[in-house]
Amino acid sequence: MNGRDLVRAVRAVGLVGAVQGLRAVRYAWRRRRADAVGLRRRRPERARVPGAVTGAEPAPGGGVVRFARSRLRITVTVTGAVFWGWDGADPEPSYALGGPCPGPDPRAVLEPDKDGGWRVVSERVTVVVSRHGEVAVCTPGGVVLRRDLPPRWWEPVEGGEARWVLRSEVAADARFFGLGGRAAGPRLRDGAYRLWNTDPGGSFGPGDDPLYITMPVQMVVADAGTHLVFHDNSWDGTVTLSEGAEGAGSGHDRAGTCEVRVEGGPLRCWVMVGTPARVLRAWASLTGAPALPPSWALGHHHARWGFGGEREVRRIVAGYRERGLPLDAVHLDIEHFDAFQAFTVDRETYPGLPGLAEDLRRDGVRLVSIVDPGVKASAGNAVYDAGESVDAFVRDAAGRPVRGVVWPGESVYPDFTARGVRKWWGGLYEERLAQGFAGFWHDMNEPVSFAAFGDPTLPRSARHSLEGRGGDHREAHNVYGLCMARAGYEGLRELRPQERPFLFSRSGWAGMQRYGGTWSGDVATGWPGLRASLSLVLGLGLCGVPYSGPDVGGFDGDPSPELFLRWFQLGAYLPLFRTHAALRAGRREPWEFGEEVLGHARVVLVERRRLLPYFVTLAHLARRTGAPYVRPVWWGSPEDRALRDCEDAFLLGDSLLVAPVLEPGAVRRAVRLPRGRWYDVVSGKAYDGPGQVLLDAPLSRVPVFARAGAVIPVRGADGGLSLEVWAPAKGRTGGGLVVPDAGDGWEAAEVQRYVSRWRAGRVVVERETGGGPVEPAYPVRIRGL
Ligand code: NOJ
Repeated sequence: MNGRDLVRAVRAVGLVGAVQGLRAVRYAWRRRRADAVGLRRRRPERARVPGAVTGAEPAPGGGVVRFARSRLRITVTVTGAVFWGWDGADPEPSYALGGPCPGPDPRAVLEPDKDGGWRVVSERVTVVVSRHGEVAVCTPGGVVLRRDLPPRWWEPVEGGEARWVLRSEVAADARFFGLGGRAAGPRLRDGAYRLWNTDPGGSFGPGDDPLYITMPVQMVVADAGTHLVFHDNSWDGTVTLSEGAEGAGSGHDRAGTCEVRVEGGPLRCWVMVGTPARVLRAWASLTGAPALPPSWALGHHHARWGFGGEREVRRIVAGYRERGLPLDAVHLDIEHFDAFQAFTVDRETYPGLPGLAEDLRRDGVRLVSIVDPGVKASAGNAVYDAGESVDAFVRDAAGRPVRGVVWPGESVYPDFTARGVRKWWGGLYEERLAQGFAGFWHDMNEPVSFAAFGDPTLPRSARHSLEGRGGDHREAHNVYGLCMARAGYEGLRELRPQERPFLFSRSGWAGMQRYGGTWSGDVATGWPGLRASLSLVLGLGLCGVPYSGPDVGGFDGDPSPELFLRWFQLGAYLPLFRTHAALRAGRREPWEFGEEVLGHARVVLVERRRLLPYFVTLAHLARRTGAPYVRPVWWGSPEDRALRDCEDAFLLGDSLLVAPVLEPGAVRRAVRLPRGRWYDVVSGKAYDGPGQVLLDAPLSRVPVFARAGAVIPVRGADGGLSLEVWAPAKGRTGGGLVVPDAGDGWEAAEVQRYVSRWRAGRVVVERETGGGPVEPAYPVRIRGL
């Protein structure tokens, strides 16, 4: 045990109490022993590089280039995404893929290149392979976006998993984003980012890394173009990034570098090239369309760990109603379980749960249940007994069930990488539905075991099915949360086929958007935590996970009224808008911070409700195109370098730009606008970008701009849909897409396209249809005149 471990041990005891603390100490020793016995020590290794090229064979979409000691397969697919794999790595099997691998682009051809190298030429991208195994991804015009140096492997002499490292160069001006949920982003600065889903234990701030969702997915934005790169490998690893620098006209630019180092598994990669919108479209078509949340999930949620019981829940819901504050969902945390056992109810504090759910539902409030994967290992716990009977739980290398420690005490862990286990687990949600829950909140699924020292998760040697292939936790760890989300999602689809599941999960991996969203986890209460909240949502969106949001107010402690309000104002423009707090944290109800905050919070809640049709539209568009609701300000103009460095504002869809206040005491703030005309939505004043403007931001407001020409669907005073149209600049046109809410089932939604323009000195709005333009069927309000 080193010094850091000791601090952790003391913290663990503080966090979970003395008995649990002792268990956590015992577990840490158990885990260490399990790995000492169950994992083969690193034997002598042999280093390897591909060596010199020996030949190549064409294949549909590209071909295979052979080297003295390896071979490289390259395939350009019909979606324009490029796959490459060394050493015979194929695209499948993969936990990231959302369906069958896209087929090869028949027009892509393999050709000899200079100096004995080869290249694959396609419409949107050219991949150039040098004779020693460098791989350059280039635009059709020949500009290099990414150059991978030849990979290196270290193979155990007696066989087994090879470690590998791949170093790449990008343009000197390139910026890195993504890698899952990172608190210190969204721009990922120089440093090492680990790929290992981790509960930081207690609350986290911008300095904590890694967190609950790591993904080997990077979006790289440079003058020459944007690309997304995905190293499809779930093993533990590290990505080391270093931004380049330009030599100020001296011609001595320093390239940006990225080094991916992984402890095992295939060396394979997907690369997508194009605009940010195009690469995320390609990403969604590869890894699956984002799940569409029911529309109530786009409203306001209130959660807390430790409501204490039904009476308190009713009191809070009544508090919202009496004060005219819109509320759409309440979340019940682990204390509503009987002795923290998932899929049970503490009948003392929640004596009439289905009734509570029904009453709330009548007031338009849904109940959401937390679900933890750890199952209390005790005979008599129905879930444990049932799981035992289907051999559902993870075992160690010697075949014994792995016992970790979570809230209910000693616990076992379903192996969600087995199809049968997912099916069994999915069926358990029937009990939750019968209790009246409408949505699900997956927690602790990194997965966590409290450990006084070392890694707070399962032993690396623990065995997993991995869809029958067999393997250990080193490969399964990062996809554990993803597979749990799949189990829940598929179960709910079977149990309630007529409703879209609502599920969000703390941990996950590439492709998790297929099953739902996520949230920040235990973000620390404080101004840095507020900033981290935005970083997480933006970064996850660029990794294809569009639905997320923070614990508004921060997880722990007591936010000042100002901090709470600023968090509330930010949260209202993020997809998941949820207040939440820890067991011993202060209150988070908006009326607990004084009359002034309450008044401003009401404005925020009413505005969120007014914008609900816009959020519904963005949810549908995310599903259709992969574009996140919340986008960095450079989304439409990635060539604008000043925007690439702007981390404190964001676009909400195409139409709005939100500039939240992230600093204490601020009453105005600078906002960098992308090109085009933008209106301050409060004053209606127009500003022309690109450029920076200074805007008043008193406590009463968060600066929001609307793009000139935008057509935004909003909820009218009568609850119906209406269109808010911002005048285009003179001589220009604008427009917007509107997807009217088609209910919470699977009915096909209609995408309506509107155009705004000046005609005879007036702004007119028309809906474009196959039969020509028609008048909108909704009331229209023109603004910005
Ligand atoms: C950790 C989660 O991140 C947090 O949101 C939750 O309140 C606690 N677990 C208790 O369930």
